[in-house]
Parts: sequence; structure tokens; C-alpha cells
Amino acid sequence: MGRIICCGLGPGNPDLMSVRADREVRAAKHVAYFRKKGRPGQARRIVEGMLAKDVCEYPMEYPVTTEIAFDNPEYVRLLAGFYDEWAERLARLARAVDIVVLCEGDPYFYGSFMHLHARLQGRVEIEVIAGIPGMAGCWNSVGLPIALGDDVMTVLMGTLPENELERRVRNSDALVIMKTGRNLKKVRRALAAAGRLGEAWLIERGTMPGERVARLNEVDETECPYFAIVLVHGQGRRMEAAE
Ligand SMILES: C[S@@+](CC[C@H](N)C(=O)[O-])C[C@H]1O[C@@H](n2cnc3c(N)ncnc32)[C@H](O)[C@@H]1O
Repeated sequence: MGRIICCGLGPGNPDLMSVRADREVRAAKHVAYFRKKGRPGQARRIVEGMLAKDVCEYPMEYPVTTEIAFDNPEYVRLLAGFYDEWAERLARLARAVDIVVLCEGDPYFYGSFMHLHARLQGRVEIEVIAGIPGMAGCWNSVGLPIALGDDVMTVLMGTLPENELERRVRNSDALVIMKTGRNLKKVRRALAAAGRLGEAWLIERGTMPGERVARLNEVDETECPYFAIVLVHGQGRRMEAAE
């Protein structure tokens, strides 16, 4: 029996990959990774120049990404079928060989591999190698402490409804807002309504080529890539301990 080894690759700069992931990627004979149709795929881009000459590659191309709304039943059906099919293919392959699955950031942190992980439980041995999550690369690029003392930090998805974003923003000290891309205008309105827009940073392609770090209220909101995160830094709140 082979194994499935999911390698967390870190936020984008290959230098920020763990020693263990680096070793597995270089030794791999079979490598699978997600990508949008017609694109190289972010995880694959991170390992460019690291793969063995005779490696077999398995690009797992999403049937849809942004063409249909993610809460549309058709989107849900297509994605479920796609994950079922790849879980089956990888399980079959892993009967004979080890397969390395590439994953940007940390696989257990909103990683697409988790859809396969759930489907492969009990069928094949799976190892997951931790990676530095994208948000850590992003706050490192800003160069300020994200949370200190008793700060409460909340991680939000830009896909949440605007009123929910605003409610959560009001109740947190430090904030990480992921999946900002197409949701940037909504995220900005929610931050403004909660009085935090002036403190927010936008980090596009953190640690990757073309990285941009800017104050959110100074950027043009019409264009925002998929790899973008909004950060609001905590101020190092101190709570008095209750008697
Ligand atoms: C499906 S989640 C995957 C998260 C990943 N597993 C991790 O640990 O960061 C994708 C979202 O993560 C964020 N992201 C991940 N890496 C990033 C980076 N280097 N720069 C900016 N945003 C990033 C973006 O908000 C993007 O929409």
C-alpha cells in the first residue's frame, strides 16, 4: 500500500516551506494538485523547479470556480462529483504508490484537500504536513504584531453576508478576512460600518511574486486577486482578571 502525503507549502515563497515538505516534494514520483482550468495552479507554482524529472503529475482541475455562485445547488453538485472522482482515483493509485498532494498554506486551514481527506478516511493512509498559513505570511509582510495581550482575533471569510461580517468585526480586536477577491467592496463596507476601515490593510499575493501591501482605504477596489487578505491589527488589549 502507498500513502497520500499532503504537503502544506506555506504562503507562497518556496523559502517558507518546511524542511519536511521540501524533502517530500523533491522525492515525489507522483504529484497531484488543484488548479483552475487553464491556470498552472498556485501550489504547483510554489514547487516550480523542485520536482523530479520523471515525476507523474495529476492536475485536479475544478469543474467550476467563479462561473456559478458557490451556494447554487449546481455548484455544490459539480464540486461534490469532482471530489468523489478524485478521491476514487487517488485511493486507487495509492494501492501501488505514494502520492504527494500539494496544498498552499496549511492543508487543515480551509484547504481544498480537506474535501478529499474526508472522503479518503479509512481507505488509505494519509499524512498531512503542516505549512505556514497564508495569513501568517501576510502579517509578516506588513511587519506589525497581529495580536497581543488579551486581543481576540477572528478569522472571517469574505463570502459571509455583509451584516454578519459587520457584527463579527464589531466583536473582535484583531481580524483576518480571507477570500477577499470578489468580496472586497462588501468587506470594505462592513469595516467602514464597524468603524475599523482606517486600520485595515490589504495584502495581495503575500510573499509571492507581485506582492502588494497597502492601506485598504487607499486602494482601488475594482481589481483584487483571489490571493488577498485583509488584516486589522489588535492593539494589545488588557482585561482585568475577575476576582
Ligand atoms: C481556500 S483558502 C486556503 C487557505 C490556505 N490553506 C492557508 O493556509 O492559507 C484561500 C484563501 O486564502 C488566502 N490566502 C492564502 N495565501 C495567501 C497569500 N499568500 N496572500 C494572500 N492571501 C492568501 C486568500 O484569502 C485566499 O482567498
